[in-house]
Amino acid sequence: MAAERDFWRFFLLSALAVFTLAGFLYNKRTGSLKVSSIISEHQEPSPQSPYVSLPPTTTRHPLIPPYPYPYTFLMNPLKKCQSGNPFLVLLVVSVSPDIRSRLAIRETWGNESNYGNVSVVTVFLVGLPTSVTDKVQQELEEENRIYGDIVQQDFMDTYYNLTLKTLMGMEWVAKYCPTASYVMKIDSDMFLNVEYLIHKVLLPDSPVRNNYLTGYIVPTSGPMRSKAYKWYVPKEVYPNDTYPPYCAGPGYVFSADLTQKIYDVAQTIRVIPMEDSFIGICMYELKIPLTTSPPNVFNGHWIDYERCLYNKLVTVHHYTHEKLREVWTDFWSKRKSECPKK
Ligand SMILES: *[C@@H]1O[C@H](CO)[C@@H](O)[C@H](O)[C@H]1NC(C)=O
Ligand SMILES: *[C@@H]1O[C@H](CO)[C@@H](O)[C@H](O)[C@H]1NC(C)=O
Ligand SMILES: *[C@@H]1O[C@H](CO)[C@@H](O)[C@H](O)[C@H]1NC(C)=O
Ligand SMILES: *[C@@H]1O[C@H](CO)[C@@H](O)[C@H](O)[C@H]1NC(C)=O
Repeated sequence: MAAERDFWRFFLLSALAVFTLAGFLYNKRTGSLKVSSIISEHQEPSPQSPYVSLPPTTTRHPLIPPYPYPYTFLMNPLKKCQSGNPFLVLLVVSVSPDIRSRLAIRETWGNESNYGNVSVVTVFLVGLPTSVTDKVQQELEEENRIYGDIVQQDFMDTYYNLTLKTLMGMEWVAKYCPTASYVMKIDSDMFLNVEYLIHKVLLPDSPVRNNYLTGYIVPTSGPMRSKAYKWYVPKEVYPNDTYPPYCAGPGYVFSADLTQKIYDVAQTIRVIPMEDSFIGICMYELKIPLTTSPPNVFNGHWIDYERCLYNKLVTVHHYTHEKLREVWTDFWSKRKSECPKK
């Protein structure tokens, strides 16, 4: 009898040990896979592994950004949205080394104290620098300790991955800033008149719109099929010959309710490298039309600085940080001065 009891005790203990060890190995495996598959992206992922959510590189065209994929937030300025319900979140597209543009933007249109009782939040979106030297990342962390306004996920920060950056911004607002009213995605080489955007386009005293996306609308266009173009898109990446209408990438504005909807639909369709066309595809899938904006307000091109002209627009493209600082002092100090009525 005693021998039999000892046998069962031994058996149970062994079974428990095997289960514990298996569980430990399983967790270790899933936990470490994300990091290792990022680091070894261009090596062959093992196609049999049930844990790898990246499709094998043999089936994914190299120009298709890996998505959906649980990218991890390396920097997440949670405090930004804890102090209230921002009226407007500015998602500024940036890259790690470009600290000079970020400094200029913080001192000009990105300065959150500029807009009185209208709460504006500015954050910068970055990925992982392509040559991940610890130095670049350390400097970015140092900068973030000072300003606390950088959102970073662990995808490679390349031209063809821009869509991942936009989707990171959508995810960040949906998860960490869900009480915001409006969001603007804006490039860092832009002049932005936030006051005009707030008081002439978005209107803080009116009810917040839903399903609202506006900017410079590109009504009909299609992928560039020649390899000679920077934005070359082969049929394997996007088979259709036309894109649905979309808002041009340098600066577009949307109601914050769209962030969750766009993020959700992006999990279900193939991502393409052109972030603005891709948002158009998401809206098409969501069956939500774009909202037209008044003409000459969202400008994707250069316009020579003229204070009274800049008073009545939202964006001008192709601004270096030097040029931005140069015109800003004049623009901001005289913005309430009279302009000739036309
Ligand atoms: C933002 O504006 C406030 C108020 O004018 C000013 O005190 C502050 O220094 C500005 N911040 C930056 C980074 O320039
Ligand atoms: C901001 O203040 C102005 C008056 O100075 C007021 O008309 C407006 O409703 C306020 N806006 C918000 C969003 O509180
Ligand atoms: C996009 O980012 C992923 C994840 O970091 C990386 O594996 C891939 O090489 C990048 N794609 C391009 C075209 O740069
Ligand atoms: C692409 O073309 C197919 C076939 O005509 C159509 O069903 C689909 O809606 C199109 N997709 C987009 C994003 O236009």
